[in-house]
Amino acid sequence: MSPPIPSFFYGTAWKEERTATLVELALRSGFRAIDTANQRRHYFEDGVGEGLATAYHAGVVTRDDLFLQTKFTYQRGQDHRLPYDPTASFSEQVKQSLASSLTHLGTDHVDSYVLHGPASNYDWTDDDGEVWEEMCKERDADRTRLLGVSNVSLSHLEAMSASRAELPTFVQNRCYARLGWDRDIRDFCRDHNIVYQGFSLLTANHEVLHHPLIARLAESAGATPAQIIFAFARAIKILPLTGTSNAHHMQQDLASRDLILPPEAVQTIESISG
Ligand SMILES: NC(=O)c1ccc[n+]([C@@H]2O[C@H](COP(=O)([O-])OP(=O)(O)OC[C@H]3O[C@@H](n4cnc5c(N)ncnc54)[C@H](OP(=O)(O)O)[C@@H]3O)[C@@H](O)[C@H]2O)c1
Repeated sequence: MSPPIPSFFYGTAWKEERTATLVELALRSGFRAIDTANQRRHYFEDGVGEGLATAYHAGVVTRDDLFLQTKFTYQRGQDHRLPYDPTASFSEQVKQSLASSLTHLGTDHVDSYVLHGPASNYDWTDDDGEVWEEMCKERDADRTRLLGVSNVSLSHLEAMSASRAELPTFVQNRCYARLGWDRDIRDFCRDHNIVYQGFSLLTANHEVLHHPLIARLAESAGATPAQIIFAFARAIKILPLTGTSNAHHMQQDLASRDLILPPEAVQTIESISG
């Protein structure tokens, strides 16, 4: 049975030696979905596993309470600390990378396994086809429950669909207000029953976060501008990620789930972004 889709992801990029402590703090704060990657350049997946183990040991959560998501990253997105043999075939690299992730995370399966980015910025290539086919096999072998793709354009998704590849459960993209909050991709996702995960909602959209209209909406809702952005994201069917390192912000980010924006407020925010 598929696990329920979470309502908020705690993102673990760029945490380095603080990863384990912050993952444990995120779980103690109430996050139940963790996003990571087997890409040592930006993530310390082993540290995520350490944070999980500490939380299990302390009785904060069990594995079954959690939604764990990690990624396969091509060599071009990695540094020298590779989780696979780069001379092996792509399908073998996927196998090795996922096996290493499961060891890091201390589990026999993840809930979602994501292709970190296609091989080409434009096309869905044969290499992507091979990687995706292996990811589907890993899913069929119960080493992941669901699959996703990240950093994709509309042309990637259309080409993937045209190649008759199975479509993902998730798309995970950086979400820019100036691109209508990734409207084209979100439309594709809506039409194909794909859940859109949005990252850098705050950091990629400084001008919206600091806009006077957001300040006004925040004041009248008794919320912070960051909470308004997360509530807005949810209103337009974006499943948000946050990468906060701050305990208070963790609470605020989770509390934004209780904030329901009226349709006029959603329209106002969309109009700022243009
Ligand atoms: N697929 C990909 O290629 C990809 C790429 C990038 C990221 N990601 C994933 O997405 C996750 C999140 O990345 P991100 O770019 O959205 O986040 P991020 O870069 O980690 O930054 C979040 C920023 O927002 C601030 N923040 C969060 N909550 C706040 C609040 N309530 N009030 C004020 N400031 C707040 C944080 O500051 P404080 O720390 O002070 O709270 C931090 O500066 C990553 O950790 C990773 O898991 C995926």
